Amino acid sequence: MCGIVGYIGHREAYPIIIKGLKRLEYRGYDSAGLVLYDGKDLKLCKTKGKVSDLEEKVAKEISTEGHIGFGHTRWATHGVPNDVNSHPHFSNSGKLAIVHNGIIENYEPLKKELIKRGYVFHSDTDTEVLINLIEDVQKTDNLKLGKAVQVALNQVVGAYAIVVFDVNKPDELVCARLGSPLAIGIGEDEYFVASDASPFIEFTSNAIYLEDEEMAIIRLNKPMKVRKIKDDSLVDPYVQELQMNLEQIEKGGYEHFMLKEIYEQPNVIKDTYRGRLLANKGIIQMSGVEDNLEKFTNAKRILIIACGTSWHAGLVAEYVIEEFARIPVEVEYASEFRYRNPIINKDDVVIAISQSGETADTLAAIKLAKENGAFVFGVCNVVGSSISRETDAGAYTHAGPEIGVASTKAFTTQITILTLIALRLAKAKGTMNQSDYQRYLLELEMIPEKVQEALQTNDVAKQIAEIYKDVPNALYLGRGFNFPVALEGALKLKEISYIHAEGYPAAEMKHGPIALIDEQMPVIVIAPNKGHYDKVVSNIQEIKSRSGKIIAVVTKGDTQVKALADHVIEIPETSEALTPLLTTIPLQLLSYHIAVLRGCNVDQPRNLAKSVTVE
Ligand code: F6R
Repeated sequence: MCGIVGYIGHREAYPIIIKGLKRLEYRGYDSAGLVLYDGKDLKLCKTKGKVSDLEEKVAKEISTEGHIGFGHTRWATHGVPNDVNSHPHFSNSGKLAIVHNGIIENYEPLKKELIKRGYVFHSDTDTEVLINLIEDVQKTDNLKLGKAVQVALNQVVGAYAIVVFDVNKPDELVCARLGSPLAIGIGEDEYFVASDASPFIEFTSNAIYLEDEEMAIIRLNKPMKVRKIKDDSLVDPYVQELQMNLEQIEKGGYEHFMLKEIYEQPNVIKDTYRGRLLANKGIIQMSGVEDNLEKFTNAKRILIIACGTSWHAGLVAEYVIEEFARIPVEVEYASEFRYRNPIINKDDVVIAISQSGETADTLAAIKLAKENGAFVFGVCNVVGSSISRETDAGAYTHAGPEIGVASTKAFTTQITILTLIALRLAKAKGTMNQSDYQRYLLELEMIPEKVQEALQTNDVAKQIAEIYKDVPNALYLGRGFNFPVALEGALKLKEISYIHAEGYPAAEMKHGPIALIDEQMPVIVIAPNKGHYDKVVSNIQEIKSRSGKIIAVVTKGDTQVKALADHVIEIPETSEALTPLLTTIPLQLLSYHIAVLRGCNVDQPRNLAKSVTVE
């Protein structure tokens, strides 16, 4: 939620900020703004709309000189997206400027108090309250900027990543974090600050990630100082070497990031199991699992917590872990789990799944599970993210940056890693015979090739999209391992094309949704030739006899469903438990093409943000 980019150094700050904001637009894109200081004037430009709108406005309104500045791309929390509510915000004196990602929960009492003290507010934001609180503290106690920020933050309840500038300290940026990420890139005589490292990877590969309740004072030509906000103690920050490269965060010839990321799946699934799956030797090795194998095998229950698409991956894992390792699994929405006084036992293993590693509800659920003594294992994509640091152990999915707001490759790589875990546990617990175990390992190794083949359904998916692009509703049905895929298919369609879609277990259709079916209603049925195939065929008959339009995802060579369905999309054969890795692909493509044909902004759907760092 919201992206921040700041720069201080010898280069012109503007190109770095504007390019960086474009890279961070996945975090929010309802308004954008920036400040630049040229040694004399503090120049502000902000606007409702996207970073490209900001760029146009800057060209008309301000000069872009300056070696220090910062910008913001917003996902509104307090106050509608408009020019005034956009960041940066100034203090009443006009001397302090701030950008903020997060929510100040106690902004109302703070604001009332500041109004009593004569402060005037122009926006509806909590951020403007914070910058005036900093100014008030600074004036009242005659403090330097860093100290004033620290004192003010100690009065604040909520979450924040902030960067603050004071015209009276023009060679300094002060930044701080609690609950929202902030990375600081360290170059030669220059520093970069950003919500993730993508805005500065072409300039430096050295970065530190501020921890919660830490602040940094960044001064030109001086070593950076990192302190604990609460007790002022100095911290020796860990300087990480970044793994990301420029190519990974650019579109590489594809029209949209989403399409690029769909097509990356064969490679990233391979990256996920590289070094972990040694199929010919019958070995699965993941240090996070090996080091804690007893905890996993002794677990009375595995609790999976996640949100959105990651929650759907968790549901697939429920089927796979229970089937392979015979450990009971419960899958919870993190947002519900954290507030419903859940029963957590010391011998529970909690698996938290998150692409971004920053989802506020998942992070809070992890903290709750840890407080109750559970061992928490993270499955994250973003290296060094808050969740990866908060968990006791974990495994990265290695999907590379996912920039399209709709999650695609994160989902299939999450399923891959969770399947590896299920197989490793099955071996350790002896719940699967050796020949099945070996067969699964070899089949898993062949999945990238089969995903590649499944991607050849692109043309068929596009043709089907042409036919159904204007429907108001769609129903997705699947059973067993493919029930979560039905949910995921429906989520993909609604979030990027704004068509109302629902996913259901196919057999549940009779208990209500069947009433929706008429000749207008496309029903996407996931019907691979395994598991409950015959039952799904019966469900298809039921739809057919009510004139519903059937789009079926079937295994290559299928004849029975083909004879009944209006359209079929064929995927290669694999074991039932691995089918979600293949059935997902045409559903992603179908949603993509429908959204493109409807003229929707595929990579940045309305109202959404990639990283949900507010609850
Ligand atoms: C949907 C989507 C979201 C995320 C959810 C959790 O395409 O991307 O539903 O899956 O916001 O995000 P992470 O996995 O980053 O915790």
